[in-house]
Amino acid sequence: MTTVDLPEKTRESTSRIADLTVVGGAGHVGIPLVLSFAAKGLTVNVNDLNTDSLAALKAGRLPFIEYGAEELLTNALRDNRLIFTNKPSDISPSGPVVVTIGTPVDEFLNPERHVVEKCIDQLLPHLNDDQLLVLRSTLYPGTTDWIHEHLSRKNRSLPVAFCPERIVQGYGVEELAQMPQIISGTTPEAAEQAAALFRHIAPEIVTLSPIEAEFAKLFGNAYRYVEFAVTNQFYLIAKSAGLDYQRILQAMKYNYPRARNIPKPGYAAGPCLMKDTMQLTAFARNEFSLGNAAMLVNEGLPLHIVSDLRRRYDLNKMTVGLLGMAFKSEIDDVRASLSYKFKKVLNGFAREVLTTDPFVTVDPDLLPVDEVIARSDILILCTPHRSYKTIDLRGKPVVDVWGLLENANLVG
Ligand SMILES: NC(=O)c1ccc[n+]([C@@H]2O[C@H](COP(=O)([O-])OP(=O)(O)OC[C@H]3O[C@@H](n4cnc5c(N)ncnc54)[C@H](O)[C@@H]3O)[C@@H](O)[C@H]2O)c1
Repeated sequence: MTTVDLPEKTRESTSRIADLTVVGGAGHVGIPLVLSFAAKGLTVNVNDLNTDSLAALKAGRLPFIEYGAEELLTNALRDNRLIFTNKPSDISPSGPVVVTIGTPVDEFLNPERHVVEKCIDQLLPHLNDDQLLVLRSTLYPGTTDWIHEHLSRKNRSLPVAFCPERIVQGYGVEELAQMPQIISGTTPEAAEQAAALFRHIAPEIVTLSPIEAEFAKLFGNAYRYVEFAVTNQFYLIAKSAGLDYQRILQAMKYNYPRARNIPKPGYAAGPCLMKDTMQLTAFARNEFSLGNAAMLVNEGLPLHIVSDLRRRYDLNKMTVGLLGMAFKSEIDDVRASLSYKFKKVLNGFAREVLTTDPFVTVDPDLLPVDEVIARSDILILCTPHRSYKTIDLRGKPVVDVWGLLENANLVG
């Protein structure tokens, strides 16, 4: 991440006061949020440390795929609704401040509350006590109340709210306009101010206490992660019995409402699902056994596929091609993508590993898909991008856990 000053042409006069500030406003959660508020006529201070992303936005380009956002960005720039800043000192001195920075777990899968604490401490000297502080990043349970106490200890009385983001990545603009917004505040006034803010963009408001809202967000993601693990485990069980799970799943779901929501098997990854499940596990003193089991199944699926290939083939003498490096279909984000786990593991066994993706722009090792298909002895469909559905794989054997490919020479 670039932390240098914005170039002159990108720097904004801070004399313009925004209606609200979004800290982390050039990130995956920040951008659709910023643009949704701007589309409702609000002026937004887009505050972010990443000057490359700010410069891209200012030039009318999205730094990553966000469907439906391009037009909103063009309109917001035309109407002069965006102010771009990259320092805590440049946040607007009035109006709500919404924090959407990343909230990772560490290498031992423990939450890192100090990331939020540090960000708030840097903002604090530049915030007025009548400004609403809205935490929107996914938080370890208790963090919002802790921030409230933290501010009190510093004799600061800003209203604090927690309003979790629940969009699915890439489709935030569309979903923000359709989904109820969960809001919470450490005081009734903070909750009311947060509700007033989100009424600009959300069709409905649902109110919880801060810790309930923190759990609602984590439970939502952990539930989805467990769901993927269930279907992935069913896939593995069916496979061990020599059966085609996709065929069984299709029959189970056919006109049978109780099975309607069972997801297809696949590589469940990305920056949120596992880390949020691990936050719950940490809170439950490692007694969230379903969450832990889900992690083992989902993270273990690529390992299982590689073991299976090693049993069938002499990988040492083979080139393996990985189709799709983004963590899910139709986006360009490689964060926590299991495709890279495949690459790492296979590098230890295969003669060569080749990679391709039609969307990803940040990986210099990627090759054109035709070249990967031509040079590979065996292929693995890692990401179910739609363009792969009917692609000509030249009869090469392919592993397709997703059940996407048509007319392919399937392995396993
Ligand atoms: N990605 C999603 O679809 C999604 C969905 C729901 C919730 N969330 C949650 O939202 C949060 C953000 O996730 P994301 O995917 O948008 O992350 P991201 O890395 O894409 O965006 C975070 C942004 O914050 C900026 N930033 C970090 N520290 C900063 C600071 N001190 N001051 C100013 N800017 C700062 C970064 O430069 C980056 O642009 C996480 O808690 C995540 O779990 C993400």
